[in-house]
Amino acid sequence: MRKIYIKEILESTSVGSDVVVRGWVRTKRNSKNVTFINVSDGTTIHTIQAVVEAETISDDLLAKINTGACLEIQGQLIASQGTQKVEVAVKNIIILGEADAEKYPIQPKKHSFEFLREKAHLRPRTNTFGAILRIRHALAFAIHNYFNDHGFFYLHTPIITGSDAEDAGEMFRVTTLDATNPPKTEEGKIDYSQDFFGKETNLTVSGQLEGELGAMALSKIYTFGPTFRAENSNTSRHLAEFWMIEPEVAFNDLVDNMDLAEDFLKYLINYALSHCKEDLEFLDKRFAEEEKQKPTQERSELGLLDKLKFCVENEFQRMTYTEAIEILKTAKKKFQYPVDWGTDLQSEHERYLVEKHFKKPVILTDYPEHIKAFYMKLSEDGKTVRAMDVLFPGIGEIIGGSQREENYDKLKKRAHQFGIEEESIWWYLETRQFGTCPHAGFGLGFERLVLFVTGMGNIRDVIPFPRYPKSAEF
Ligand code: 4AD
Ligand code: MG
Repeated sequence: MRKIYIKEILESTSVGSDVVVRGWVRTKRNSKNVTFINVSDGTTIHTIQAVVEAETISDDLLAKINTGACLEIQGQLIASQGTQKVEVAVKNIIILGEADAEKYPIQPKKHSFEFLREKAHLRPRTNTFGAILRIRHALAFAIHNYFNDHGFFYLHTPIITGSDAEDAGEMFRVTTLDATNPPKTEEGKIDYSQDFFGKETNLTVSGQLEGELGAMALSKIYTFGPTFRAENSNTSRHLAEFWMIEPEVAFNDLVDNMDLAEDFLKYLINYALSHCKEDLEFLDKRFAEEEKQKPTQERSELGLLDKLKFCVENEFQRMTYTEAIEILKTAKKKFQYPVDWGTDLQSEHERYLVEKHFKKPVILTDYPEHIKAFYMKLSEDGKTVRAMDVLFPGIGEIIGGSQREENYDKLKKRAHQFGIEEESIWWYLETRQFGTCPHAGFGLGFERLVLFVTGMGNIRDVIPFPRYPKSAEF
């Protein structure tokens, strides 16, 4: 008998074949002389039905088969009248792992996402999380595909760093010093010269600065790795540990950067549409049900699949921050946070532009220099930088990027204005003295992309084991 996965069975295996299927029980249903057991092995959204005729297996064994148990099912594929074309006529079942019916928390009924977050060790066994994890994989794969096909090199930037790329000051410290009794300097400060690296180090907030070093040698690079931010924001869009993709390209300007971002996002969404069809169809139905629960004015006008198709078929709206401020100031909607030139946009403003005003993805450029990072290229006007944010419906900012300041004196001056110590980025500054060149790049938040593609409502539900304030279980 051939060992086989459910995906293969449903795609190709013919009626009459003997098979061995292994998987976890979703449901068990008794009818007169037959028991129907639905099993999933996670290779597809679909389950396969095993049909147990009376006396094929002992009553004792049958009684131990509960939702959550792991089985090895031996039998023959037969034609089915059920939801799938085939089912397994059982010859024998071996229980690989029992699951206590009273204790197993994932029962065949609707569980809330809050509840499932507390069961993150078992939630991959639900339909929704199975679909999300398969889509997440497909998108990660597509990202490498896209860059490889376009001549980019995957650069591995460090996780532990001594610099603060985003100057966000929201970093997780990495230390081996004794927390209860750290060595002190004469001034009474913690003496990091005695720490593992001989200096203060943190988990990275972005691989960009090192990414730029790569681009200024290999022309086109990208990073794809975990990043960490200790911002205490309990929102449905923020994680303390998230994955970021950061392409960086020598000789690109801001327009090239926007073109790359738009092409890249459209490729990824298209990839999901063509490679994750069944999972997306499942999530599309789920999305429609969730929307029905919302008040009419908050409902999404498009279904999930329509929303994805709409994004790939339409050009993103491009405009400057200054133009966007004008639109927001004349909007009828009352915002919680006031808008004026020079203020940072809040998610309510971004979402108004995307969801109400333009009704499509928007790329905003040329932000005031003081609200963006030190490394962004200062424009001739001296007031704005060559920055860009890509804003998506239901998400807000999905990408942040810019053309970089390639002029040594200007960059040094900006770093100084932002209070960044030269000693921590001397190597970054030095690239502007040795063969500097125009270059640009951006960062895509991987979970925000997965959030958009799956139509989920909370970023904590699109990463297997989310990290957020007061939560690092699993
Ligand atoms: O806008 P950010 O902070 O930009 C950077 O880090 C640049 N170094 C990128 C670059 O130019 N190479 O972050 C980039 C993206 C955001 O647009 C957002 O999608 C995501 O990362 N992001 C988060 N995702 C989840 N949780 C958080 N706390 C996030 N912070 C940023
Ligand atoms: Mg940003």
